[in-house]
Amino acid sequence: MMFAIGQLAYIVASVCFIFALHWMNTPATARKGVYAGVAGTTIAVVVTWAEPTVIHHVWIVLAIAAGFVVGVPLSMVPLTAVPQRTALSHAFGGLAAGLVGSAEYYLQVSENPGNLTAFRMVALIAEVILGYLTFTGSLMAAGKLQEVKWIPQRPVTYPLQNVINLLLIGVALALGAALTLHPTAGWAPALFPVVIVLALLFGILLIIPIGGADMPTVIAILNSYAGLSAVAMGFVLDSKLLITAGALDGTSGLILAIIMCKAMNRSFTNVLFGAFGQVQQAKAAGEQKVYKPETPEGAAQILDQSSLVVIIPGYGMAVAQAQHKVRELYDQLKKRGITVKFAIHPVAGRMPGHMNVLLAEADIPYTDLVEMDDINRDMPQADVALVVGANDVVNPAARSDKASPIYGMPIIDADKARTVFAIKRSKNPGFAGIDNELYFSDRTWMLFGDAKNVIGELVKELAGGSGMH
Ligand code: TAP
Repeated sequence: MMFAIGQLAYIVASVCFIFALHWMNTPATARKGVYAGVAGTTIAVVVTWAEPTVIHHVWIVLAIAAGFVVGVPLSMVPLTAVPQRTALSHAFGGLAAGLVGSAEYYLQVSENPGNLTAFRMVALIAEVILGYLTFTGSLMAAGKLQEVKWIPQRPVTYPLQNVINLLLIGVALALGAALTLHPTAGWAPALFPVVIVLALLFGILLIIPIGGADMPTVIAILNSYAGLSAVAMGFVLDSKLLITAGALDGTSGLILAIIMCKAMNRSFTNVLFGAFGQVQQAKAAGEQKVYKPETPEGAAQILDQSSLVVIIPGYGMAVAQAQHKVRELYDQLKKRGITVKFAIHPVAGRMPGHMNVLLAEADIPYTDLVEMDDINRDMPQADVALVVGANDVVNPAARSDKASPIYGMPIIDADKARTVFAIKRSKNPGFAGIDNELYFSDRTWMLFGDAKNVIGELVKELAGGSGMH
């Protein structure tokens, strides 16, 4: 009876996880998705705890307490630090899988060697290798994103790097195969830690050639590795719930990584082996191109006379925390009967959904957030494209300059609007480290300054400009 209830509860938990992912699809239901995920996890923990095989309850209490000690501060990081926070979560997931796999191996060797069938050993080796490489790889990724001093941000490359990496993982797999064939041989328990060390090393070497630009994609890939190691753990421990949850984690990470690669026009192999993300030196400018600066007052007048304004937010809006001021601007424009849309590029900012989250925080209706392909159809009709701290995602070089590192990346066609106002603090390039022709276009006027201040000025002008419109 207890067994049946347990199995039923595991199915309920699996269903919660599936709905959690489904509800994450749109901002309107994302919160519900989080609750479903929390419910699923709670059910899984409680039911596992109630299993008769669990006898050391103090350890479980300690583990839960440790989870809270680490998890609560992690939940408080600012939004801009969420990518590295996510990487840390994957590191913990990988470490847990690795440790459980190691414990299981030594336990079975000493107590129940007959349990170490070839099938279970394959799963165990997969779990351990994936788990430990996810651990160190995710720590490296988090360190790079957090700009930890002793971890180089730039891609670190050396001759034969990919060959060395492949050799390393090849040796780990070969040793894993030897262990699978002879799990209880006298030398096996001594060989097991060697596989662990190789996996830990591989995780580090896998990440060091990858630059900051690709790090969020790599984190999604590591997410999928962590999921796969949980699947393997599910086979080792004979837990269907772990297999389901791990598979959901693994596939969603992979799908996210593919979406991000597409949005940045990068191939998967390129992300993993391409050493992309080096900030390129801006070309020594032969001819000095000229920016046309504009004042908030002048820009407010043009905005006031518009029918359709498209706001294109980017990483700079996140840095400036300008979303609430943007909301005030939105209100001012809407009050005048102006149609205001937000153009959402899939990789604007530094993590998937970055702009959606910020704009949702400022209570901007989801219905006014328009995906790239849809808004691009409207761009030629837009009176004003207001670029708020976005750069690469509006760079026309992606469409026209075959030599550009971002060539082929789909962009928001800000340059097709009648007038473009671009807010940024300086003449510095964006993430890809390249110049942006948009800023020199006939139609573009620059509003130099911190996004929050500049938008604040625009709001003040509009609010005070009684004679407008
Ligand atoms: P970026 O190209 O990085 O440009 C951001 C711009 O914001 C910069 O040019 C910067 O210029 C400006 N800025 C910074 N702080 C500001 C402030 N306080 N006020 C006003 N402006 C400020 O950003 P984007 O257009 O959003 O593109 C995102 C880039 O990140 C793409 O290259 C994308 O491939 C990459 N990326 C994104 C993701 C995800 S998932 N979102 C993942 C990996 C890589 P100033 O310094 O002159 O102010």
